[in-house]
Amino acid sequence: MRIRQDSYEITRTLISEEAVQQRVKELAREIQQQKQGCSRLIMVGVLKGAFVFLSDLVRHMQIPVSIDFIQTTSYGNRTQSSGEVQIIKDIMIPIEQEEVILIEDIIDSGRTIYRLKQLLKTRMPKSLEVCALLDKPDRRQVPLAVEYTGFTIPDHFVVGYGLDVDEQYRNLPYIAVAQPTTRKGEK
Ligand code: IMP
Ligand code: MG
Repeated sequence: MRIRQDSYEITRTLISEEAVQQRVKELAREIQQQKQGCSRLIMVGVLKGAFVFLSDLVRHMQIPVSIDFIQTTSYGNRTQSSGEVQIIKDIMIPIEQEEVILIEDIIDSGRTIYRLKQLLKTRMPKSLEVCALLDKPDRRQVPLAVEYTGFTIPDHFVVGYGLDVDEQYRNLPYIAVAQPTTRKGEK
């Protein structure tokens, strides 16, 4: 007999819609202050999770921005990273001598952003920074500088506001804790 963990349920709200919206507005202001006078800021969303965060963030920004997306292999239906990060969709905009910010939903082990920074650095951007809505520093496995962080959270698996488990719950306007519904199954 073994324990099967094949579905997830929302157990509680971790960050309300109002708190998320307030923080996103503040982050947009922080980035704008740092990037005053920048002729163009290229904001690269990490698919799929960052699509909601990025779209809300840019609507609070008045400096010239260009948007692009990059995608890595996802967790699939697991909540643990395999540790291997492969790029499955690259950006389209050339970034040599450009100011670039990677926009991520959540930083967990840090491997995804570490790998993406490694790749994008080879293209000689003028600057390359990271903005993450959520950070789980307790789980970090590689050293990483994160210039802009929305919320630092404890080690929970969270969903909503773009984040998923098994491609579900991305549409929630708030961040919630998801837990496996465990049930005993036959071997
Ligand atoms: P890392 O490479 O371990 O830092 O993992 C980053 C990626 O894993 C994020 O882009 C998310 O897609 C996913 N991820 C990590 N933690 C969570 C979580 O709590 N909920 C949903 N997705 C997560
Ligand atoms: Mg994901």
